[in-house]
Amino acid sequence: MRLFLNCVGGFWRIRADRREFPYPFLQEGEKYGIIKFKFKKAEGRENTMAQLWGGRFTRETDKLVYQFNASISFDRKFFAQDIEGSIAHVVMLAKQNILTGEEKDAIVKGLTGIREDVESGRLAITDEYEDIHSFVEANLIDRIGDTGKKLHTGRSRNDQVALDMKLYTRVEILQTEELLKELLETLLSMMEEHLDTYMPGFTHLQKAQPITLAHHLGAYFEMFKRDLLRMKDIYKRMNYCPLGSGALAGTTYPLDRSYTAHLLGFEGATLNSMDSVADRDYLIEYLSAASTIMMHLSRFCEEIIIWNSNEYRFVEIDDAYSTGSSIMPQKKNPDIAELVRGKTGRVYGALMSLLTTMKGIPLAYNKDMQEDKELTFDAMDTVKGCLALFTGMLKTMQFNQDIMAKSAMNGFTNATDAADYLVGKGIPFRDAHSIIGKLVLYCIDHDTSIDALTLEELKAVCPAFEADVYDAVSLKTCVEKRITTGAPGQAAMKEAIAAGKAFLKEENNK
Ligand code: ARG
Repeated sequence: MRLFLNCVGGFWRIRADRREFPYPFLQEGEKYGIIKFKFKKAEGRENTMAQLWGGRFTRETDKLVYQFNASISFDRKFFAQDIEGSIAHVVMLAKQNILTGEEKDAIVKGLTGIREDVESGRLAITDEYEDIHSFVEANLIDRIGDTGKKLHTGRSRNDQVALDMKLYTRVEILQTEELLKELLETLLSMMEEHLDTYMPGFTHLQKAQPITLAHHLGAYFEMFKRDLLRMKDIYKRMNYCPLGSGALAGTTYPLDRSYTAHLLGFEGATLNSMDSVADRDYLIEYLSAASTIMMHLSRFCEEIIIWNSNEYRFVEIDDAYSTGSSIMPQKKNPDIAELVRGKTGRVYGALMSLLTTMKGIPLAYNKDMQEDKELTFDAMDTVKGCLALFTGMLKTMQFNQDIMAKSAMNGFTNATDAADYLVGKGIPFRDAHSIIGKLVLYCIDHDTSIDALTLEELKAVCPAFEADVYDAVSLKTCVEKRITTGAPGQAAMKEAIAAGKAFLKEENNK
């Protein structure tokens, strides 16, 4: 029987050789068993914690202080990145002859083993460790002994955590970009389908001029396109490696920081070691861009909620994306759209929180910066979840084209075109505007619309009206004559769609 006893930062653990189990303290399927020894201290405190420091300390950390200080409950999220960064670090250390090849191999093997065991569930990340860095290092020392203690050579947790968060954020940005692209593809194909689905365009939520659904969706295409470009821009700016900056002032070891950066897919190494450990700009930029995505989604959701209301009935949200009421059997509520709208607040909150956290921090690292994680992680999950759900809802939504067209026809959405018609007959625009205003009043009094008036009625207000007015103010003409770049007419919309496709094609080829 082989038992290993190990002490890391005052935390004793016993480990059994895998070949020898089952032992009474091993659960089935578990590779390692952990026994926590509780040491009674003079002050009556318990020590069941694993810390990477403690040499300088004579008394144990208070349990509440320990919990307050610990970050393992949330920084476990970048466990994979911590391992990835550590592997790159030791590979670089070996290249620079700071570690031997054997030491490097042993550490890499140990780290890979830890990753495998965590991924397969054989090893649990538990909260007796202060943070994920301590978890990895303690487990490494458990596995490979003293060589494991060399992992942290030429590194501090300050540059380590800066690296882990960057590696994690890079993945998040790429995933968010993919979700944005899927949404953009969805919008483009819907636009192609709805080039002549007429609907009212609004200002002040009052009917203004007729547009098409393609045009309306195209507005969101532009917003999400900018969101995608923002994400890419942030990625480019943040993609420099902080590892090797040490606690704040670099190290005296002959590190090759560019090599580490290269191994981890960065553009290069960061250029100031103080800034490297104290910079959270990229998170603020990410949260700002994420907030903008949420603002766009929220506006779109608000419109869908309005369109889905009994009064509008422009759209029918699919059953899969609606919920019922516990009391009112007739209800089908747009909960998903409402939730996306509602969750926007938490992402804004994360941005405000981090801006506030960072504003008073002197250089370089301060523990305040640990607060960069929880809300950012939450924002990352929220944005991705909302994008995925929203795209699904959009794909399955039905549009009531007749109701939309009918709505576009009433509400005097053709009043501008009627005025433009008179301009064509030689009347100055300001006079035409006033004449059509009177005509609208007349229509309201008689509960009718401009295009439903007889030519006599029209001529009574302005003799310049001729029989060709009906075609000039028809819904189709109102939309299709608008063909300047960016307008809803089919000719213009087709150009916009072609540009959108070219954009996505280029993005997908990059
Ligand atoms: N958990 C810490 C954080 O998230 C890691 C860095 C700790 N560094 C230190 N000097 N205490 O910021």
